[in-house]
Amino acid sequence: MNAQKILITGGTGFIGSHTVVSLMGQGYEPILLDNFCNSDRSVLRGIESITGRIPVLYEIDMQDKVALDAFFSEQPDICAVIHFAALKAVGESAQLPVAYYYNNLISLLHLLQCMEKHKVANLIFSSSATVYGTPDSLPLEEDHSAKAALSPYGNTKKISEDIIQDMAAVNQWLSAISLRYFNPIGAHESGEIGELPRGVPNNLMPFITQTATGIREELLVFGDDYDTPDGTAIRDYIHVVDLAEAHVKALERLLEKRQKSNYEIFNLGAGKGYSVLEVIQSFEKTSNLKLPYRIVERRPGDVPEMYASTQKANRELGWKTLRGLDEMTASAWNWEQRVRGINGRVS
Ligand code: WQD
Repeated sequence: MNAQKILITGGTGFIGSHTVVSLMGQGYEPILLDNFCNSDRSVLRGIESITGRIPVLYEIDMQDKVALDAFFSEQPDICAVIHFAALKAVGESAQLPVAYYYNNLISLLHLLQCMEKHKVANLIFSSSATVYGTPDSLPLEEDHSAKAALSPYGNTKKISEDIIQDMAAVNQWLSAISLRYFNPIGAHESGEIGELPRGVPNNLMPFITQTATGIREELLVFGDDYDTPDGTAIRDYIHVVDLAEAHVKALERLLEKRQKSNYEIFNLGAGKGYSVLEVIQSFEKTSNLKLPYRIVERRPGDVPEMYASTQKANRELGWKTLRGLDEMTASAWNWEQRVRGINGRVS
């Protein structure tokens, strides 16, 4: 039987590339679509190094509906779509709100129109825990009220979920799942693929690893006056490979028609929170390096504490995280060293 073809939009991105590797490992045929606005073709070599094969890739901007429609005409056997492609920098979205709303929402709307026209029934949407805003209670359950988004980026994820939910409500042919990611970090154990932010990293883990290589002078810890055990903010960090494997489980739920309704939402986190200082301590342990950091003011918009309830994903997807914080920090460092060709902090 021919391998089932799965469209992966944003397939050369951080989470997209790891999901492509997991899918290929399970015998699926991912077809990648990317415009390389936040990644590059070298990721394909990394995927080949791990899997032995280069997946098919189309360079398409999803704002170009004609090109997207032509893709679906050329690939009539797509049986599901995993939609990662989106602009995702929280801070940048506050500076460029129209670009974020336009790109993220138009891309999704074009995708949904093409799926309807070409009768592609299965959709997994890359959402984010940011839709919860500032939590009223912890751990965060999927039915926690979605709050006012903390950024235009977060609002595009909330609106996208609403669009998919509204479409599923009146189109029973559509089967959709939104996966709400907490804080994905780490890299594939091979060190062949990983997170490669352009410019100055916004997120904690790549800033830590770039500081360790000497690219950044020091890590700034945004606040140690939160109401947490060590004063620094707490997040639910999840290994990107655990996250990728959850996508395979969600895909199987759709393809095997095991959904309880035609639109479902799942939290993807470890179900445990770690503080910034705990992440630093783990990194120093696994890298055997001393990380230069300085405590500074809080970052506007940060919430003190967020971590997931993962019971629904554990139960319904038959999935749980297998990798702990030390494996996340060690794999992130392994990746950074390999991609920079540097062993340890440049003296
Ligand atoms: C984690 C913690 C910072 C950098 C964001 C998005 C979310 C998702 C994941 C896309 C916080 C602290 C960070 C630094 C620091 N992205 N920190 N110094 O803000 O929880 O979530 O990324 O979906 O939508 O909101 O992740 O990695 O930026 O921060 O002290 O240089 O590390 O204050 O407590 P965040 P983050």
